[in-house]
Amino acid sequence: MRAHYVLLLLLQIVGVNGELISVLTGTAIAIATGAFWGLKDKIKCQLYECCHEPDVNFNYHSLDADIANLLFGQHLVKDVVVNALKAHWHNENPKKPLVLSFHGYTGSGKNYVAEIIANNTFRQGLRSGFVQHIVATNDFPDKSKIEDYQMELRNRILSTVQKCHRSLFIFDETDKLPEQLLGAIKPFLDYYSTISGVDFRRSVFILLSNKGGGKISDITLKQYENGYPREQLRLESFERELMNFSFNEKGGLKMSELISNHLIDHFIPFLPLQREHVKSCVDAYLRKRGRSDLVSNVDFVERVLNSLQYFPDSSKAFSSSGCKRVDAKTDLELAKIRPQFQFDDEL
Ligand SMILES: *[C@@H]1O[C@H](CO)[C@@H](O)[C@H](O)[C@H]1NC(C)=O
Ligand SMILES: *[C@@H]1O[C@H](CO)[C@@H](O)[C@H](O)[C@H]1NC(C)=O
Repeated sequence: MRAHYVLLLLLQIVGVNGELISVLTGTAIAIATGAFWGLKDKIKCQLYECCHEPDVNFNYHSLDADIANLLFGQHLVKDVVVNALKAHWHNENPKKPLVLSFHGYTGSGKNYVAEIIANNTFRQGLRSGFVQHIVATNDFPDKSKIEDYQMELRNRILSTVQKCHRSLFIFDETDKLPEQLLGAIKPFLDYYSTISGVDFRRSVFILLSNKGGGKISDITLKQYENGYPREQLRLESFERELMNFSFNEKGGLKMSELISNHLIDHFIPFLPLQREHVKSCVDAYLRKRGRSDLVSNVDFVERVLNSLQYFPDSSKAFSSSGCKRVDAKTDLELAKIRPQFQFDDEL
C-alpha cells in the first residue's frame, strides 16, 4: 500500500518534470562510468605500480619508529629527516622539491636512512619505479661521455616525475659526480613551477657524500674528549662547517652554486659511531639471524667488536667503518662456533 503510493508519487514527479528523467539517467551513467574507471584503475594498479595508495603512501609514524629502532647514534638525523619529510609531504603546494644533503663517513648509515625513507614511502621500497638510485661511479663511469650522461640523467629524472610527482631521487657519491652532471640536476632542485611541463616541487632529492666526514669527526671527537654527551651537539654547529667546507672544496663549484642559491634545504651530519653503537648493530644483526641468545654473550659480542678498527689511535673512540662490516664480521664469528643442535643430531 505504502510502496504503491511512493511509486505513484514518483511517477507524478517524473510526469510533471521530464527533465528529472534525464538528470536521473545522467547520474546513473556517471556513476556507472565512474565505477568502470575506478575498476579499471584498480585492476591496473594490481598489475602495475600506481602513484597513489597503497603503492605510494608516506608513513610518518613508521618512518619515525624505523629510524629509532634501526639507526644508532644519530640523534640529529632522527630530528631533521623525519620532520623535514613530514612537513614537505603534508604541504599541498611546496615551493620547491625537498633537498637533503647527507654527510659522513661510510658506515654511518647514510644509505641505510635513504632505504628506510624509500621503504616508508613506497610499497616496493628501493625497487619502486618512482625511486631512482643514482650511483655516480657506477652509472657514469666514462668521463668522455659526459654529454650523453647529461641528457640521460635529465631524461631519467623527467620521465620518473612525469609518472609520479612524489618521486624520490637518491644520489650516491655526490662528491664524485662530475660538475656538469651536478649542473644538469640543478634546475630540478630549483623554485620553478614546471620544467618541460613537469612539476617537480613534490619530489624529494637526497644527496649522499663522504665529504665533510673529517670535519664531522673532529667536532664529535672534541665533544667526546671534553666529556660531553654527543646528544648535546646541535645541527647549527655542523651546518656552518659543512656549508663552508663545500664552498671551499676544490672542484666543488657546482655544489657551492646549489648552496649559494639555497637549493639544499638541510645539511645532515652522520656522526662517527662509538663502540656502543656498533654493539647495537651487532645485537640487531644477531636478532635478525635468529640468534638473540648470543646478544647477552659478552665474549661473543666482544670478539666481533674487537675484529673492527677504531680511530683515532689515542682514544680509539670511533669505529673506522661504522656499522658497515658488522654483518660480515658477525657471520665470521658465528661460523666459528659449533651449532648447538649438532650434538643432538649425532646422538
Ligand atoms: C626495506 O624493505 C625491504 C623489503 O621489504 C627489506 O628487505 C629491507 O630490509 C628494508 N630495509 C630497511 C632498512 O628497513
Ligand atoms: C671556512 O673555511 C676556511 C678554510 O677551510 C677557514 O679558514 C674559515 O675560518 C672557515 N670559516 C668559518 C666561518 O668556519
